[in-house]
Amino acid sequence: KKAPSRRGSYADVPHSLMGQINKLEYLFTVSGEKLKEITDHFISELDKGLSVEGGNIPMIPTWVMEYPDGYETGTFLALDMGGTNLRICEVTLPEEKGEFDIIQSKYRMPEELKTGTADELWAYIADCLQQFIEYHHEGEDLGKLPLGFTFSYPVTQHYIDHGILQRWTKGFDIDGVEGVDVVPPFEAALAERGVPIKLAALINDTTGTMIASHYTDDMMKIGCIFGTGCNAAYMENCGSIPKLAHMKLPPDSLMAINCEYGAFDNEHLVLPRTKYDLVVDEESPRPGQQSFEKMIAGLYLGEIFRLVILDLAENPDVRIFEGQDYNKLKKPYSLDASFLSAIEEDPFENLQDTHDLFTSKLDLRPSKPELELIRRLAELIGTRAARLSACGVAAICKKKDLQPCHVGADGSVFNKYPHFKARGAQALREILDWGPPPEPVFPPAAPGGGRLARRGSASSQTNAPPKEPDPVEVLPAEDGSGVGAALIAALTLKRIKMGNV
Ligand code: GLC
Repeated sequence: KKAPSRRGSYADVPHSLMGQINKLEYLFTVSGEKLKEITDHFISELDKGLSVEGGNIPMIPTWVMEYPDGYETGTFLALDMGGTNLRICEVTLPEEKGEFDIIQSKYRMPEELKTGTADELWAYIADCLQQFIEYHHEGEDLGKLPLGFTFSYPVTQHYIDHGILQRWTKGFDIDGVEGVDVVPPFEAALAERGVPIKLAALINDTTGTMIASHYTDDMMKIGCIFGTGCNAAYMENCGSIPKLAHMKLPPDSLMAINCEYGAFDNEHLVLPRTKYDLVVDEESPRPGQQSFEKMIAGLYLGEIFRLVILDLAENPDVRIFEGQDYNKLKKPYSLDASFLSAIEEDPFENLQDTHDLFTSKLDLRPSKPELELIRRLAELIGTRAARLSACGVAAICKKKDLQPCHVGADGSVFNKYPHFKARGAQALREILDWGPPPEPVFPPAAPGGGRLARRGSASSQTNAPPKEPDPVEVLPAEDGSGVGAALIAALTLKRIKMGNV
């Protein structure tokens, strides 16, 4: 489905606000040429990450050394400690190729846990696992259930069932976990409660996504997350990983690499960071880290938007919301990516939904011209995120010469943010030179453009002939942290059985 075009009207926008809209467009627009430059630098940084000296991007060998063949079997637990929820699944892989059954429960990750103590974190997770097992298997003698634990932060792995946390990302800040192996305290919390579980594999969500997606579609060569954070995994040949040369692995054997490319450009050489991006960085628990992620991931989109709007409210030359109390706008992280999604989804010509959203959430009553600016800003931030995201995918595709291939993508931004997929696909076309799309996907908002009773849908109604798929298609992934974690646990147990560890 094609992204709807937008026919906003700037007819009533006074000159000074129009000047602001133009400035924002200049600040947040990333040209195709710039995307190419970023992608080229990205490729050299991916290579650096694999070198003995290392670079900004960690490029972590995960010890996931093969794709599933579709005939994995057994019952596994999967635990997903994402940024927002904790999810526990029981995944059964039956005899039939590429099939799976799954039961799952979700638990909210209390916000305080993110900045609490390590003991509280492991105790909470162990309690949830205990509850899950008691609920689903009361009184059964299970032996020790194998678990795939999706722990989606950068961890150095010398074995698949260990992981030393390099640093917290995505706003987590729990003392005493960075620099240590996360598995022993986790297992100790389980043992204390007598929970019958054996950790088989510690995995990243991107690796899980790649493996789960490949299980059902062998064109899938990359797993990506565009969610609270952003990152990707792909399969590398061991012979192309200089930092593993000392292990003397067969050069053409495979190794899944968790890129951790949210850390791309921590040196600040190519990304077009605005003053708002600098503030997001400085006020985060880990300044100077995750530079790429901070411009594009769901955790930060609403915050970038808030900082711009607050700046415009405080700027004596602009003064949006004049005479109104904009105190509520001053609270950091009070707006999340779903706030931006809702603005971009507002179907009404007078942006009534956006107006109501500002009123209910912030006690503000934006004028019609202010609403136009707000809408344009949301589009600009959402579009920049999607376009920059494409650079990471394009870099892996170019580096590994993967065209044609499929990319399995997951995460709240990919699944829920309006137009993210189409904007990302358009950026990939520009970076990888596939020629222009049949018709423009994103006509710029036309000053004084036509008025529609409802915004949007006009151009999505055309009966265009089906077009050739792009050489790289980013598609919704299979459930990486559930099915993927189970598959990796299965692959690991198979490897142990074969004495091939
Ligand atoms: C952050 C984490 C990374 C994860 C990504 C998506 O970048 O560091 O491990 O894959 O978020 O959840």
